[in-house]
Amino acid sequence: MTHTVEVRLGARSYRVLIGSGLLGSLGDLLKNESLPSPCAIITDSNVALLYAGKLQHQLASSGFKPVVITVPAGEKSKSLPQAGDVCDQMIAAGLDRRSFVIALGGGVVGDLAGFVAAIYYRGVPYVQIPTSIVAQVDSAVGGKTGVNTRGGKNLLGSFHQPRLVVADVETLRTLPEREFNEGFAEVIKHAIIRDRNLFDSLVSVDRENLAPLIARNVEIKAAIVAADEYEASGERALLNFGHTIGHAIETAAGYGRFLHGEAISLGIIAACSLSMRIAGLAKNENDLVIQRLEQFKLPTLLPAGISIEAILSALKADKKFLEGRIRFVLTPGIGSAFLTEDVTLNEIRAAVEELRACE
Ligand SMILES: NC(=O)c1ccc[n+]([C@@H]2O[C@H](COP(=O)([O-])OP(=O)(O)OC[C@H]3O[C@@H](n4cnc5c(N)ncnc54)[C@H](O)[C@@H]3O)[C@@H](O)[C@H]2O)c1
Ligand SMILES: [Zn+2]
Repeated sequence: MTHTVEVRLGARSYRVLIGSGLLGSLGDLLKNESLPSPCAIITDSNVALLYAGKLQHQLASSGFKPVVITVPAGEKSKSLPQAGDVCDQMIAAGLDRRSFVIALGGGVVGDLAGFVAAIYYRGVPYVQIPTSIVAQVDSAVGGKTGVNTRGGKNLLGSFHQPRLVVADVETLRTLPEREFNEGFAEVIKHAIIRDRNLFDSLVSVDRENLAPLIARNVEIKAAIVAADEYEASGERALLNFGHTIGHAIETAAGYGRFLHGEAISLGIIAACSLSMRIAGLAKNENDLVIQRLEQFKLPTLLPAGISIEAILSALKADKKFLEGRIRFVLTPGIGSAFLTEDVTLNEIRAAVEELRACE
């Protein structure tokens, strides 16, 4: 059974298809989208070995003209030099404005390929084929594309919505354990900000039947994106729960030390501790969140060697830091969240220090 979630954005609306074995009919799915035939399948060195050849062959037999462009796996590839290199390869392959991009991989490839699509010939269409949990439940939907800089995560980028998202849950079978688990940081985030039942259901996850879980997460993300595409009203900012401190930890640790979801796990813990202090989150709810993160073997303590000062200075470069005030997402109870500017840097410092407290 294929689940379909519509992302309602007027002229930029698109569908997210979630199901088993969808890659086998990608050619037909793309034919319905009135796309040009030349395209670049942008992928990474791990995913290329598993899926790129098959996909290229299949698309070619459906009348498309795909070239495969592979970047090294890992967060370090989400960079401006890498984006430039991919564009150069596309130019060398003869792709012009009558072409499109396919992002085949996890969130790193999705953000990088989406960014390339946003700037290539001032913008070409793209299709997301997410292959990690993070990408299927979160990054492939919503049109945020971008790259990192030394100073911080995702500081360069663009809103560029995909034309179609195809999440084939079969691809998750080849995901290594650590990468599988990290995705649950984003799932737990969605549950905390929006859906208590989803949170409770995470006690037992059926790995043989992940499509309903992915589809529920996509519904949550799609509804928020539809309400606030450009993060203007504050609604979309709720998706940053755990990310203000999480991104700062990713930057301070150096890209590649943590997987994204692992850094977000620490960010969620800090956000919950601030929520207990400021928003009335009950201690037992906070403990439930920590239990759930531990269940997916996500980190709950900051390793030695990552300096608190480096985390705080990365935080100040964050896009969410407006004129010295930080926009922070807190939860008063699992299932709901709100945005506030009333969290002080001292309170944030205390929450980050607590991540280290029990060593
Ligand atoms: N744009 C957004 O809205 C948004 C939302 C959430 C996260 N993100 C971004 O996503 C990135 C993290 O994404 P990620 O966690 O998917 O990382 P990733 O893309 O690096 O993938 C993790 C690892 O899994 C491998 N992999 C992916 N799919 C596989 C498969 N099916 N089989 C075997 N190996 C596979 C990759 O090669 C990589 O080594 C971060 O840069 C984060 O900032 C963006
Ligand atoms: Zn995230």
